[in-house]
Amino acid sequence: MHFTFRQLQVFEAVARHLSFTRAAEELHLTQPAVSMQIKQLEGSVGLPLFEQVGKKVYLTDAGSALAAHGRRIADCVREARAELEELMGADGGRLRVGVVSTVNYFATGLLAGFTRAHPEVQITLDVTNRRDILQRLEDNEPDIVLMGKPPDGFDVVAEPFRTNPLVPIAAPDHPLAKRRRLAVADLAGHSFVVREAGSGTRAAMERFFADHDVAPGRTMELTGNEAIKQAVEAGIGLAVVSRHTIGLEIDAGRLVELPVKGFPIMRKWYVVHRTGKRLSPCAQAFRAFVLAHADI
Ligand code: PGA
Repeated sequence: MHFTFRQLQVFEAVARHLSFTRAAEELHLTQPAVSMQIKQLEGSVGLPLFEQVGKKVYLTDAGSALAAHGRRIADCVREARAELEELMGADGGRLRVGVVSTVNYFATGLLAGFTRAHPEVQITLDVTNRRDILQRLEDNEPDIVLMGKPPDGFDVVAEPFRTNPLVPIAAPDHPLAKRRRLAVADLAGHSFVVREAGSGTRAAMERFFADHDVAPGRTMELTGNEAIKQAVEAGIGLAVVSRHTIGLEIDAGRLVELPVKGFPIMRKWYVVHRTGKRLSPCAQAFRAFVLAHADI
């Protein structure tokens, strides 16, 4: 049985995502290139490693067995790379940053400042919602994560660096937009557009309404902050979003923040990495840069 490290690397990515498309994206390959590597690997192993049932990809028993080893090898390679990057100093190396979707409204500004000071560092920015960021952290993929409340399930080093006020918004012609003062109970029964399951913003909003014994009316679920804002502008309903996401629309008069007593829901943004992770000098420099620009 003979297979290459590259084939194993491709296999490990497909096994982790259970998706050829997402593995191809992560590895910057085309999907046919990924399928070809897997086919060749299956050829030399002599057993199928994946099976497709309906639209879903599953690991076979042979695939599961190989995946356990593939994961350990990938971790070893990551550690080897981290050690080598450490030797390169803070002015070089690769930095993998993961941010929750809402942070992306200011993350690019932070990264721009950091790259001015460290132009040689190669940065990968991964933007996704809270649930997916937690999964990536658990898989030890990003060096540094910028997110809301740090996770409880595993050990992380987390430092707050900015506040995150969540506020209720409406279209300017919504009946509640005319009111000068509102109570949380005034929101009851109104239609809302809410973020996808897995969003930290949505979880915080649901907790807030439950704590206040208020039930929104009909809800429509949309993915990402941009879709939410457009739906609110179109008059589909109210929403609760981070104030960081609405600056342009408020200035242009396309959205209004409702003056509801009890809001904003005050959350914080944290800079986070796994406990025990060996941060490369550029990751340490980035963490220090974020904390140096903290306003908390
Ligand atoms: P979200 O994250 O973009 O997933 O809503 C925000 C948060 O975790 O506070």
